[in-house]
Amino acid sequence: MSGLVEVTREGRVALLRLNRPKQLNALNAALAAELVATVRALDADTSVGCMVVTGSDRAFAAGADIAEMADMSAEAMSEADYFGEWMDFANARTPKIAAVQGYALGGGCELMMMCDFAIAGQGAKFGQPEIKLGVVAGIGGTQRMTKLIGRARAMDMHLTGRMMEAAEALSAGLVARVVPDDEVLAEAMKAAAEIAGYARPVVRLAREAVMRAEEASLAEGLLYERRLFHQLFGTAAQREGMAAFLEKRPPRFNEAE
Ligand code: HXC
Repeated sequence: MSGLVEVTREGRVALLRLNRPKQLNALNAALAAELVATVRALDADTSVGCMVVTGSDRAFAAGADIAEMADMSAEAMSEADYFGEWMDFANARTPKIAAVQGYALGGGCELMMMCDFAIAGQGAKFGQPEIKLGVVAGIGGTQRMTKLIGRARAMDMHLTGRMMEAAEALSAGLVARVVPDDEVLAEAMKAAAEIAGYARPVVRLAREAVMRAEEASLAEGLLYERRLFHQLFGTAAQREGMAAFLEKRPPRFNEAE
């Protein structure tokens, strides 16, 4: 690991900080590889209940590294399956919260959308400016943004390449919360600690059930959710959660780890 992603732990929460501040955290292949490998390892660690992904004050990430990509051929892109490994980031079962200050552009906005939700600062700016570079989004921007904010707004963003301010991103549904810039990380860590305090297997299933809404028909999704709900009555988490409520005490989840 070359320090392009700094990892720190606070209890059951892992904080991942992108660390190329001078380049506004432009995502080059080395950073991508390190980030994906880090997330894979943390996802397999049962002592991690939630991850927070953040950047610097100035930029969450200003996109894929244009200098690195500029001279690549279509053949080289395809051979490397450039950024194909990001699927592992998106599919990690441990929830990931994006804590966003400054720019989240291109691949940076896509990285944010690969997280399960985003908490942004009032000064954050979002965009998919690839059209200005003669390309299109390549790690999910046209797909995830359309699902999050709808076709009209996604078209606006992808066809004009304009930036969206935090207030608009909140009302559009691109981010879940907007807070003052200097409170973003604390707010994200607090939400992550809350999530990490719940039973890890149940958190993962809740996440999967919400993700399922993007893939399945309503009838399939409803059935999937109901079956999950039924099966959770065979778990220690359900017994502990409901017993704690009835006994008027806080539940004790994840204590075996
Ligand atoms: C490489 C980048 C970069 C990027 C910024 N930098 N963004 N380097 N790739 N995406 C570098 C700049 O070259 C500069 O380096 C330093 O970071 C600071 O940036 P400035 O431009 O000087 O800062 P500022 O004037 O404040 O402007 C900020 C900015 C601008 C508006 C965010 O940097 C910008 O427009 N960046 C590009 C955004 C973009 O187009 N992203 C989409 C990329 S394509 P030096 O050495 O000069 O100090 C993409 C495709 C994803 O993401 C799909 C992949 C498969």
